[in-house]
Amino acid sequence: MPGHEEPGAFDEAWRGRIRSEDDVQQAVLECRRRCLALGFPMTQAFLVATAMSELARNALYHAGGGEVFIRCRRGPSSTIELEVCDHGPGIVDVEQALSEGYSTRGTLGLGLPSVKRIMDRVTIESRPGQGVRVRAWKHCP
Ligand SMILES: Nc1ncnc2c1ncn2[C@@H]1O[C@H](COP(=O)(O)OP(=O)(O)OP(=O)(O)O)[C@@H](O)[C@H]1O
Ligand SMILES: [Mg+2]
Repeated sequence: MPGHEEPGAFDEAWRGRIRSEDDVQQAVLECRRRCLALGFPMTQAFLVATAMSELARNALYHAGGGEVFIRCRRGPSSTIELEVCDHGPGIVDVEQALSEGYSTRGTLGLGLPSVKRIMDRVTIESRPGQGVRVRAWKHCP
């Protein structure tokens, strides 16, 4: 219905490709900007942008690149949704990937656990050999 806003519908979206560190930085800036526009306190906006950074970097370094969507829902309880998709090798054991210190790249293995801590809700859909789709939501506190 034109002009009618469905409850639960996201009313603004940003889409970006992740092929380089510059792309990651752009997604991080967009994320922070959108959080602030939604009314998130500065510290929370920076934290959500950190989650974006971890997810975009994972797509870049574990899957050779991917795609990012940032969706905003305004309202009495504003929400931001991050979605990062790739067509890389997928994650064989998602539970293990979410545990602190697990990394197949020899780095800290703190990316996904910190995304889980920062965001209110995280879903990870992994198809081994086909890719990963991570979605994460945060309500404006
Ligand atoms: N998009 C992805 N595609 C394939 N594997 C992934 C993806 N994202 C995460 N993983 C797997 O999950 C593991 C844990 O991810 P996490 O982000 O927590 O740590 P990391 O990227 O290895 O290190 P850090 O983020 O601390 O630099 C990775 O080492 C990798 O094996
Ligand atoms: Mg990581």
